[in-house]
Amino acid sequence: MTRAALIFLGAFAAVAMSFTALALLPSLQLSTIEPTPGTSDYTYSEQLGREVYIREGCMYCHSQQVRPEGFGADQARGWGPRGSRPGDYVYDETHQLGTMRTGPDLHDIGSRQPSRDWQLAHLYQPRSVSPGSVMPAYPYLFEVKRESNVRPSEVTVPLSSEYAPPGDSVVVATQEALALYDYLMTLTLDPIDQNSDG
Ligand code: HEC
Repeated sequence: MTRAALIFLGAFAAVAMSFTALALLPSLQLSTIEPTPGTSDYTYSEQLGREVYIREGCMYCHSQQVRPEGFGADQARGWGPRGSRPGDYVYDETHQLGTMRTGPDLHDIGSRQPSRDWQLAHLYQPRSVSPGSVMPAYPYLFEVKRESNVRPSEVTVPLSSEYAPPGDSVVVATQEALALYDYLMTLTLDPIDQNSDG
């Protein structure tokens, strides 16, 4: 065998082996994962909210992975009744697991804080419901309107006088804010069968 053929074979084997180990085997493994009972694909609004979550970089401060019991204090902190499982992410294309925890883990936020009023006020101005919070405010997901111009279908955000706009103006959630709320409410960890890693 010539030296060139040997080099070619060696390079080919290296590429083929890494492709098998890093792409083929993981994709085979992932294709057999069943969705966790109770999870379903996103609705239009939830999907839109997920896109807002990605666009606004919520992942840079929030993880979506509760560690199983015995691996850190996640469950003791009240972040979820069980550890996250692969089946929880079946409908997530580009999952939002995250690695940073400047804020709490959000994988079970839908159970922990289901109040729409609270969530919208928190997005408009985190300090209004969580004094001293370092989370950024997202006022551009809301509109300030004269109360008389608010249509019945619109959702106003209840705010204390310190944070409410002056006069007869009110804060109204945009479609993006409502969608983000819908998405956050999909993040729930039901305590399903506890026999394995939960
Ligand atoms: C710079 C870091 C940072 C970013 C970016 C950020 N957050 Fe937060 N978040 C925090 C911190 C810190 C807290 C805890 C204090 C509080 O409740 O505001 C928090 C709290 C929360 C809570 C309440 C959690 C609980 O357990 O009560 C929710 C819900 C939340 N954030 C959603 C979001 C969403 C949605 C986005 C993106 C639009 C986002 N956060 C972006 C830092 C961040």
